[in-house]
Amino acid sequence: MILEMLRRGSRVLKQSNPGQTVTFRKIVFLLMLLSIALVLVFRNSSEKSSTVSGISLKKWDSFNSLVHLDPTVEFRNGTDLISQIPDSPRGVLFLAHGCNGRAANFWDKSPKCKNCVGLPEERLVVLHALARKFAVLAVSSTRRCWTFGDELLKVKDIVKWWIAKEKLEKLPLVALGASSGGHFVSLLATKLNFSSIALMIAEGMFGQMDISASYPPTLFVHMPKDEERKQRIDNYLVVLKDKGIDVAEIKCMEFPLSPSYFSDVIPGIDRSISVKLFNLFKEKGFIDKNGYMTKDGRAIRWKAALQERDITLPDKSLFHHIQEEMNLAYAKHEMTSLQSEEILDWFESHMS
Ligand SMILES: *[C@@H]1O[C@H](CO)[C@@H](O)[C@H](O)[C@H]1NC(C)=O
Ligand SMILES: *[C@@H]1O[C@H](CO)[C@@H](O)[C@H](O)[C@H]1NC(C)=O
Repeated sequence: MILEMLRRGSRVLKQSNPGQTVTFRKIVFLLMLLSIALVLVFRNSSEKSSTVSGISLKKWDSFNSLVHLDPTVEFRNGTDLISQIPDSPRGVLFLAHGCNGRAANFWDKSPKCKNCVGLPEERLVVLHALARKFAVLAVSSTRRCWTFGDELLKVKDIVKWWIAKEKLEKLPLVALGASSGGHFVSLLATKLNFSSIALMIAEGMFGQMDISASYPPTLFVHMPKDEERKQRIDNYLVVLKDKGIDVAEIKCMEFPLSPSYFSDVIPGIDRSISVKLFNLFKEKGFIDKNGYMTKDGRAIRWKAALQERDITLPDKSLFHHIQEEMNLAYAKHEMTSLQSEEILDWFESHMS
C-alpha cells in the first residue's frame, strides 16, 4: 500500500515539475529499498530460529505448529519411564539423562505429568525427535547417576517390554545418552540391538568392555572445552575405527548470549526478565562484552546477584532452567539440543 501511495504521489508530481520528479524518483527508490530492508529485518526477527556461530537456535515454542509434548508416564521395575509416540513412527529413541537428571526433565509439566520439569534443552531434544517421527522413551536412573551392573539388565528389560507393548519391534532402535547417561548407553549397546548411538559429553566406557565388530555406529557429541574428555574421545574414535566401527564426532562450541536469549529458549521467562538477567550478568562480569559466558554457570554466584537486585523469577524452579542455558553457552559440560538435527541425521543414516 505504501508503495502504491508513493507511485501515485510521483505521478502527481510528474505533472507539476519535471526537475522535482527526478529527485522524487530517487526518494521513492530509496524508500523502496528501505521498506525491502525493513521487511527482511522483520521477517528475520519473527522467524522461529536464528543462527549463532553456525548453530541453529530453536525457540522454545518453535515446534508448536508441528508437534506438542504429550507424555505417557509409567512405572516398571522400580523406576519411571516417560514416553511419547508420534503418528507413523520410523524409529525408537531411548534417552538417558545425566547425573541428577530424570525422565521427567524431558517433558513439560502438564496434567498428564505433574512432576515433569521440562528443562529447556531436554524438552527441545524430544521435540526435535518427535518432529522427525521418532518414538521417544526416557527412563530414570535409580540413583543420582547411572550404575553399570544390574541397572543395565533392568533398563534392557524395560526398553524391550515397552517396545513389545507398543508393537514397535520392527522399528530401528537408537539411543542418546548424556554424561553418565552416555556411559550407560555405551554399555547398554552390548545388551540391546541399537542401530546406532550418540554419546553426548561422554567418552563412554570403552576401556572396560570388549568391543566387537558388531558394536553399533557411535557418534560422540562433545564440548572440546572439556579438554581431558576431548582427549579420551579422540582416543576412542581411533580405537573404535580400528575395530571397523563407524564413528563420528560433533564438536559443540561456546556461543554468545543475547538479551532475549533466556526468553527465547525457556518457557515461562518473558523478555523483560531475560533482558534484566542479561544486563545484570554483564554488569557482574558473568558475561563478557561480546556476550560470552566467562565461567560455567555452576561456578557463578548468580542467584545471590539476583537477590541483591530484587529480581524475582515467576517460579523458583526456573533457576535450574537458566543455569542449564548458562552452562550450555559456556559449553564445557551440559545437555544440548543445538545439534539435534545432526544427531538425528546420524541415526537416520544408519537405519536401513
Ligand atoms: C522387571 O520387571 C519384570 C516384571 O515385573 C520382571 O519379570 C523382570 O525380571 C524385572 N527385571 C529386572 C532386571 O529386575
Ligand atoms: C539388529 O537390528 C538390525 C536392524 O536394525 C537387524 O537387521 C538385526 O537382525 C538385529 N539383530 C538382532 C540380533 O536382533
